Amino acid sequence: MPLFLPKFSLQKLNTLAVPATADFYVSVTNHNEIKEALAFARERELPIFLLGGGSNIVFENNFQGLVIHLKLQGVQVVQETDDHVWVNFAAGENWHQTVEYCLDNGYYGLENLSLIPGSVGAAPIQNIGAYGVEVKDLITELSTIEIASGTEVYFLNESCQFAYRDSIFKQAFKDKYIITSVTFKLSKIAKTNLTYPALQEYFSGEDLAAVTPEEVSQAVINIRQSKLPDPEQIPNVGSFFKNPVIDQSHFEKLMKQYPKMPSYPAGDNHRKLPAAWLIDQAGWKGKEFNGVAVHSQQALVLTNPNKLIGRVILDLANAIQKSVKDQFAIDLEIEPRVY
Ligand code: EPU
Repeated sequence: MPLFLPKFSLQKLNTLAVPATADFYVSVTNHNEIKEALAFARERELPIFLLGGGSNIVFENNFQGLVIHLKLQGVQVVQETDDHVWVNFAAGENWHQTVEYCLDNGYYGLENLSLIPGSVGAAPIQNIGAYGVEVKDLITELSTIEIASGTEVYFLNESCQFAYRDSIFKQAFKDKYIITSVTFKLSKIAKTNLTYPALQEYFSGEDLAAVTPEEVSQAVINIRQSKLPDPEQIPNVGSFFKNPVIDQSHFEKLMKQYPKMPSYPAGDNHRKLPAAWLIDQAGWKGKEFNGVAVHSQQALVLTNPNKLIGRVILDLANAIQKSVKDQFAIDLEIEPRVY
């Protein structure tokens, strides 16, 4: 029987360091413990909250229920050919250590996703992405436990409705399944993806064909460390907003006013804009606001250096949303989960 702890502080378990508490907390390391945790919550009619690395959550209030901290560990090669390997990682494995493990074993594909905070089980929920790669490109299947029934359910990639920072687990199946492991199809032949502008810039002047996956990983680490604050030092949850997609006519109107505005193609008749640029233009970069701040190196990141309550961060987020709406007629959507 896992240990159920009452009135538990979540401050060290969310990278924004918000001082919230949970009525009950339990850490689980296997399927049986998950089932026991679900039974505990069911018997007491407690809502549950599933916690991984805590790197994409803003606690607005104390949680009146049971926090289930998913700590399942383990790695298994499930299939192998001359060119590819299918590796299954348990949900509680640390994301960056997983990327490193793959590189150390000559399994390639995840290197652009180096240094993203969080756990393996959380990665598919928001389809983590960085430097030209999204995790959906490498996932073949997930194993889960259905919360209502306690039964194991497998999802193939096609059933997960992956999209930019989105999946079925944020939509129709939100809070319905616990992801227990993820299988990735990785290449045994070293290939690199250097399409992202910041990587092209990093390797400019070099022979791109000769760049190794290990060098890509190191480049991503260096770029991230130069722009993104380490949550251990300055509490944050990475990007606080999604990059917005606008239609072509809106885009053309803005381009007349801001000819240097960066943008990316986003399907027929649409463009994606960097929210960081919009926030920067609106004058928020590096600004302090009631003790919380907009990071000085990357305007998309809000920081909580004084470990204040979630409401203060959300007030800053709302003020930024209002500025961007007034100046660009664009609605910025908050990217982390708010609870
Ligand atoms: N920019 C500014 N001001 C800033 C920062 C950036 O004008 O303060 C401009 C840059 O000049 C560039 C553009 O915005 O033209 C894009 O910047 P960057 O390459 O840093 O990427 P991003 O769009 O801001 C996204 C992801 C990050 C991911 C990077 C790299 C989202 C919401 N964010 O940021 O993901 O690491 O690309 O691929 O899609 C996260 O989700 O937590 C995260 C950090």
